[in-house]
Amino acid sequence: MGFNRLVLLLALQLLYTMRVSMVQLNTGGYEDIVIGINPKIPEDNRIIENLKRLLLTYFHATKQRFYFKMVKILIPLTWKTKPEYLRVRTESYDKAEIIVADPFLKYGDEPYTLQYEGCGEKGRYIHFTSNFLLNETLVDVYGPRGRVFVHEWAHLRWGVYDEYNYDAPFYVSAGSGTTKVEATRCSADVTGKYVVQSCKGDSCITRPCKYDYRTDLYEAGCIFVPDRRQNTPASIMYMQGFSSVTEFCNNTTHNIQATNLQNKVCNYRSTWEVIMSSPDFTSSSSISAPYQRPTSHCCRPKTEFNIPPPYHPTSLPPHIPAPPNPPPLSCHHPLSPNLITIPCLPPISTVFLLCPVELPLFHP
Ligand SMILES: *[C@@H]1O[C@H](CO)[C@@H](O)[C@H](O)[C@H]1NC(C)=O
Ligand SMILES: *[C@@H]1O[C@H](CO)[C@@H](O)[C@H](O)[C@H]1NC(C)=O
Ligand SMILES: *[C@@H]1O[C@H](CO)[C@@H](O)[C@H](O)[C@H]1NC(C)=O
Repeated sequence: MGFNRLVLLLALQLLYTMRVSMVQLNTGGYEDIVIGINPKIPEDNRIIENLKRLLLTYFHATKQRFYFKMVKILIPLTWKTKPEYLRVRTESYDKAEIIVADPFLKYGDEPYTLQYEGCGEKGRYIHFTSNFLLNETLVDVYGPRGRVFVHEWAHLRWGVYDEYNYDAPFYVSAGSGTTKVEATRCSADVTGKYVVQSCKGDSCITRPCKYDYRTDLYEAGCIFVPDRRQNTPASIMYMQGFSSVTEFCNNTTHNIQATNLQNKVCNYRSTWEVIMSSPDFTSSSSISAPYQRPTSHCCRPKTEFNIPPPYHPTSLPPHIPAPPNPPPLSCHHPLSPNLITIPCLPPISTVFLLCPVELPLFHP
């Protein structure tokens, strides 16, 4: 067993013993969601305001079945005290469903959800950076924050996976006697252009990709750029940013041929089918009552926490070898190594044991 494997197993074991989500589903409303703000994030009240706004997202996408009812925001001790802050009871950063923390390595400001347990299983946490919550430029990139949140919540709570794939952006579509290279997406009704961008200095030109009919491949460097205006309502797990997108892919709109994690991990089932079979769905019904706005409480730790020192390769104890660098893009699913490959989002081993900054083990 290599070092990485060992660390991975230890990390998983720790996660299993520590992790108890307190989230309750009460007649369609999620309660007791904890959002933890990392002590390294400088105090900024707009973070709280934007988090509250993001939680107003009404779940049209779930056919009026779920909404966010009550959320607790954990204020770090590094921020000033305010009279409206309540005392923490059992909430803690290491059990938060959502963390606001500095970017994790290569993900930059891209929000992600740490999930590795397989189809339909709950994830560990959603990571937003403060820049994602504050910087309006990023709304153009990822879409309105509330929609991004629905996408991440679907990962976290219902165990569905992405329908895009940066590593395999194209697949060979076989149908009605012809083969064709298509962009990995859901639904296949999402329209767009296949283009190559070449830049010399500051000037860039974009032209259509050349298609090689002998190999059924587009030329190297070809990318799929979805049209700004779309008619299809699906799907949130593909591109939640489009204004037309209000639904998950269901069994009619699902693209079974796309080379994405949803197909791989969920055995070609659509995201909506997986959501429909989740305990949350089967134990609830459509809500006909008027939508209630979520309430939020701000909590504040009552005692000082011990924050482990940030991890730097040079400060590792001598008996621990330095982690591989750069981290692997993907790793085998730890529980069923032959079954699926999931991207390590981020590599579980590094997150948990080697980067305590990312996920400090707090002991009040
Ligand atoms: C907002 O984000 C963009 C893209 O990451 C970055 O270039 C810009 O500097 C950021 N603006 C602020 C005010 O941080
Ligand atoms: C799937 O979604 C499409 C688009 O919203 C809808 O027309 C269709 O009836 C849905 N199919 C099922 C089986 O729910
Ligand atoms: C699609 O899902 C609907 C229920 O939402 C079901 O009635 C129908 O049989 C399914 N169709 C297929 C082809 O699986």
